[in-house]
Amino acid sequence: MSNPPAEGRIVFPRDFVFGTATSAFQIEGAWDEDGKGPSIWDTFGHTPGKVHLDIPGDVTVDHYHRFREDVALMRDLGVDSYRFSLSWPRLLPEGTGAVNRTGIDFYHRLLDELDTAGISPNVTLYHWDLPQALEDRGGWANRDVAKWFRDYAALAFEEFGDRVPRWATLNEPIAIWVGYGMGMFAPGHEDARLGKQAMHNALLAHGEAVRAFRELGTPGSEIGIVVDIWKQHPATDDPADAAFAARNEDDSFRFFLDPLLKKEYSERNVERLTREGTMPEIRDGDLELIASPVDFLGLNVYSRVVAGAKDEGTKWWEVNRETHPGGNFLDNGMEFYPKAVYDAIGLVHDEYGWTGPVYITENGTVDVEGADPFDDQERISYVRGFLEWIARAIDEGADVRGYYLWSLLDNYEWSAGFSKRFGIVHVDPDTLERKPKASFEWYRDVIARRELDV
Ligand code: NOJ
Repeated sequence: MSNPPAEGRIVFPRDFVFGTATSAFQIEGAWDEDGKGPSIWDTFGHTPGKVHLDIPGDVTVDHYHRFREDVALMRDLGVDSYRFSLSWPRLLPEGTGAVNRTGIDFYHRLLDELDTAGISPNVTLYHWDLPQALEDRGGWANRDVAKWFRDYAALAFEEFGDRVPRWATLNEPIAIWVGYGMGMFAPGHEDARLGKQAMHNALLAHGEAVRAFRELGTPGSEIGIVVDIWKQHPATDDPADAAFAARNEDDSFRFFLDPLLKKEYSERNVERLTREGTMPEIRDGDLELIASPVDFLGLNVYSRVVAGAKDEGTKWWEVNRETHPGGNFLDNGMEFYPKAVYDAIGLVHDEYGWTGPVYITENGTVDVEGADPFDDQERISYVRGFLEWIARAIDEGADVRGYYLWSLLDNYEWSAGFSKRFGIVHVDPDTLERKPKASFEWYRDVIARRELDV
């Protein structure tokens, strides 16, 4: 086990999975090639004023054409597993119906390459790139999306099921709120009622996919869901701050974990959403469907939020030096709070009774603006800090099975475009040349030794 370590080092369990993560839209490019249909992010990126510098994700880092090189990088890195997502509109250009064989073949080629490299795939079905054709029919706000997603999931299980040991249905479903409730992500709707309904529908879609997996999935393979946890810490003892923090949690990760793991929306949430007129329509059987048992929980953890009622109106993920001056801020602007991962692991266990396996499916940080991107010491310290807290959780008995560093490559950070670079491999914006950063070498050493010097 991890601890107590020999003096000055932490040893990870032999079967602990070290990996790295990406998502289709953020790296593939080839947005309209080989029969792929447009996604909501293609449309959004082509709409003036929506993404950084109005540069759409048409090419991103061109992984569609360079996947062999990217897998070779991972082989060099020595990862056990690679977490990536399938592009729904690449497989089903209209979202339902006709299958794009060329798209299917692309993922078979990627899986072949991973297989040869001895890297185990961890595949996410939905990482935010809904087919535009489905958005045209109401998208996540249309309850039919659950069936559309089921059919897409069934196609993926049938095509790739015998090659993929671990599946996730949705990645960070809160993105659906940001896209339908706030208008900051694709498809750009700003309607709270619509947003909450879309979140509920996404949970239904998750449940449908889990049920389909139980029918069609390959025995021995697993399915779960990935939720991001940004624990809200009240800024002061003022009860107004505690209430503010609790509300932010109800609106984010608890909105998903409550029905997934407790088969309910909390009374507190139902009462408030009803009062605000944003309570989604829930039909008989919905909660049973959503709470269909999963095999693992994926947690994305980057930091925490210190929330105060005075910050009402400030977007809670933008709390920074001004709103929370006491924090330990990195030069890149993020608060460095590695205990967040230990707290998240504890939260799902203690508050939700989750005793199954947990994977930390994302964790990482951005380059410091203006600094040498190759000498990313801040990223090394950040990841080291999180790994230390994961090791501690394991040592105390938590069933944490793996860690995926976000991200393998600098890539397209949604509305922020290329302005935020999370990669351990630098990608030249003009030539798309890949070149490992210092963190890549450091992570390679951690993986090879399965140890961390502290
Ligand atoms: C959340 C998302 O899953 C991923 O797409 C994003 O790039 C990272 N975290 C960093 O913000």
